[in-house]
This record gives sequence, C-alpha cells and structure tokens, in this order.
Amino acid sequence: MSKGTRDRKNIYVSPEEMARQQRFIDEIKELNYRKEVKTGKKKLYCLNTFGCQMNEHDSEKLAGMLAEMGYAETDNVNESDLVIYNTCCVRENAELKVYGHLGMLKPLKNQKPDLVIAVCGCMMQQPEVVEHIKKTYSHVDLIFGTHNLYKFPELLYSAMDSQTTVVDVWDCDGQIAENVAIERKDGVKAWVTVMYGCNNFCTYCIVPYVRGRERSRSMDDILEEVRMLGRQGFKEITLLGQNVNSYGKDIGDGTSFAELIREVNKIPGIERIRFTTSHPKDLSDDLIYAMRDCEKVCEHLHLPFQAGSTRILKLMNRKYTKEDYINLVAKIKENIPDIALTTDIIVGFPGETEEDFSDTLDILEKIRFDNAYTFLYSKRTGTPAAKMEDQVPEEVKKERFQRLLETQNRISKEINDTFLGKVVEVLVEGVSKTNDKIFTGRTRGNKVVNFEADASLIGKLVNVRINTVKTWSLEGSIVR
Ligand code: 5AD
Ligand code: SF4
Repeated sequence: MSKGTRDRKNIYVSPEEMARQQRFIDEIKELNYRKEVKTGKKKLYCLNTFGCQMNEHDSEKLAGMLAEMGYAETDNVNESDLVIYNTCCVRENAELKVYGHLGMLKPLKNQKPDLVIAVCGCMMQQPEVVEHIKKTYSHVDLIFGTHNLYKFPELLYSAMDSQTTVVDVWDCDGQIAENVAIERKDGVKAWVTVMYGCNNFCTYCIVPYVRGRERSRSMDDILEEVRMLGRQGFKEITLLGQNVNSYGKDIGDGTSFAELIREVNKIPGIERIRFTTSHPKDLSDDLIYAMRDCEKVCEHLHLPFQAGSTRILKLMNRKYTKEDYINLVAKIKENIPDIALTTDIIVGFPGETEEDFSDTLDILEKIRFDNAYTFLYSKRTGTPAAKMEDQVPEEVKKERFQRLLETQNRISKEINDTFLGKVVEVLVEGVSKTNDKIFTGRTRGNKVVNFEADASLIGKLVNVRINTVKTWSLEGSIVR
C-alpha cells in the first residue's frame, strides 16, 4: 500500500457521524421543499466570507451542504432566509466589519423573525467574541467554530427550531471530515485542502489558537479528490494549508509535500498546480526539486518573509534570519530561474525601529517580488506580541506602510514592464466583470491578463501577446 494512507485512528470524523449529518440535510431539504411548494419560492441564503483562501474554501463547503438542503444563493441580504458570516480574526479590521454587519441586521430580523442569522469561522474560536455576540447581538441564531463545520446541518436544524442562540464551538482540534459536499464557484480552478491548522506560533498570529494543530489529510484522499476534479474538467488546482511545507509530518511515515506534488503532477486533466502558504523555514530542497521537475507546477511561489530585520524575525518566532531568507530565494532562483515570487509583510511589529524597517525595504529591493501583501501590525489578544512593550504608534506604522507600498508598486510595475511585447501562456478563467468581450486569466507566474476572447475559450490555455502594462495587471491579444 502507498504511504500517507488513512489509517490514523481518531483523526477522521466517523462515517456514522457523517451519515447522521446527512439525515439532518435530508430533514431540512424536506422542510424547505414543503415551504417552496407553499410559497412558490425557493429558500435563499446569503453567505459572506472574510479572510484567507482557507475560509473561502470552507464557505464552498457550507455552500455545498446548503445546496444539498435545497437552498439557492443570493447576494441580497434583504431577500434571504438565512444569512451566514464566515469570519476571520487575523487582523482587527476584519472583526470590526463583522460586528458592523451584525448590527445592521437587527431591523431585518425584527421585520422577518424567521430569518436565521449564523456566524462561524475563526472569530468564533475566541470565547470573548462569542460572549460579546451573545450579549450585544442577541438576534444571532447560531454560532459555531472552525472545528465543527461538518456539523452545520445539525446545528442549523437546531437553530431553525430554537428561541435562543445555539452555540457550538469546540476548543479541541477538530477531526478531518471527508466527503463533505463542496460547491465550487469556479469551473476552472479549484482549491484542495491538504492540511488543517498550524504549529508555528508566530508571536503576532492568532491562527494556531483558532485553527488548532497541524493535521494532514491522507495522500490517498487528496489524490482521489484531485482525480475527480480532473474528470470534472477543472484545469488548475491550488493545494491549501496554513503551512503546506509541513504536510505529512504528522502522518509519520515519511509522507512529504514534495512527494504529494509529484503524485498530483501525474493526474490527467489537471494542467496547472499551485500551493499556498509556504513557511521559509520548512521549504525543503526536495520541494524545490519537485517544483523544478514537475511540468504542471507553476513558476510561482508565495513565500511570506513578514519582516526584513533578523532581530524582529526572532521576536516574531519565525526561525530564520534575513540572510537565510535571501539565500533560500537564491537557491530557488538557481533551480527555477523564471519563478515569480510573492510575499506577506507586516509593518510596525512591536519594537520595530526605523533601522529594522529599512531591512524590510532592503529585502524588497534585493529580492524584487512580483507582488507583496502588506499589513499593518494588528494586536491580537492572546498572542505573545500583544503583551510586548514598545507597540509602534499608528501614525509611524502608517507612514512606513506608505513607503513600503510605494517601493513595491514601483518594483511590480518594473517587473510587469519586462512583459511588454512578450507572448505568455494564459489559462482563460472567465469574462471580465465590466465588459463582456474582455476575458481574464492568469499566467503561470500568477499575473492577471485581460484580453479579447469568447466564452468557448474558458478553461483553455491560450497564448497572449502583451501590449499594455499596468501595476496590477497586463493586457494583450491572443496569438493564434
Ligand atoms: N497583524 C498584521 N498582519 C498579520 N498577519 C497575521 N497576523 C497578523 C497580525 N496580527 C498577516 C501575515 C500573514 C498574513 C496571512 O496575515 O503577514 O502571512
Ligand atoms: Fe500564523 Fe505563522 Fe502559522 Fe502562518 S505560519 S498561520 S503566520 S502562526
């Protein structure tokens, strides 16, 4: 038998429990059907997702279960029968937005008492958040967390029938639930989770507290899912995890992310493979060689460096130095010369001096990322950094942030300029939101390209000659 099989005890939700959830799905479907016959209208849900791709993918699972229950989707909150917020707590901003939305729903709930309001996801894993919602937003019907997403059918069934807020949040790590229905929004690109949780405890980050320890899916389950996606006509797969490079370590039989990638590369129908996120300390030579050798793995790597100063990196508990990072990128570029690099950067971590910040700018200049996701440090209760002295004043953070953006925007534009006149391979994803003759897709390096095409090309690889360059995207025409 191959490695990475599904024989670890207690790590999976049992088939009996999944069957029990299916019965709740069927019950709700029956109720919804009866209501539909009476009113002539399908029941509608409005699902709002905050945060990262993991959350987006969790929302695809919620949507999958809701479709099985006979709900249809709407983006109009006023006409919905069920409103769900799948929340993020990585930065304070995302949390404030959710509270704003919940406050605005109160009049609607008064008008429509049958409306069910549910909140789930990372924010709910913090007990003080749950208390605050119960106290301040008592019109919320259902609160659940990240570890029991698969239990949504049962919880929704209880909430539909309850006068008080149903709360079910687990503080232990959730088991892996296989075979949850997934409603993928996109027909060309698909996310596939390879692992849940994170063991790194970067001192600024709340994720390990709300997503739990690392738990890898079995390689057999992942490969089976990708094979099915290949048969269904999906062309691009993004393997997801908080730290995909440590995939398999908890399985303990030598299963590794590099090996997984080599196996995914063999699957028919899939033309492109991406993955996110990678931690520099865990990116092995083996993975670099797998990226180099596997023709379907795109020449793009998202490799957050967070801060340039070795002193700050130590305070962040990142376990690499500025030099380690630069050397790692040199090794990657040696093996994959045309790799496009993107990164995450935090500005204003506690104690960050102007000199520390200049190391961040220095890394930008030295590495020349194609794109960077930049964040103002946000204090997260319960993390070690929240208790550190020397919190950087907001105005200093903002001023540094501005300089960071200007530097990165200039570099992104300079890199994009090198594409002028070149022909690039683009996977056609869909029509642009503003003009139905303009289609959009991405290069292997993950650059957005807009061009004239027709719907028959969606899901196909085309060659596009670039004739206009912007900071965030490229424009061109198809070369036949
Ligand atoms: N403040 C600001 N940014 C943060 N990130 C994680 N935690 C925080 C925080 N407390 C950023 C990191 C991470 C990305 C997903 O979010 O850069 O890579
Ligand atoms: Fe957070 Fe660090 Fe884990 Fe990423 S690696 S999720 S930043 S603790």
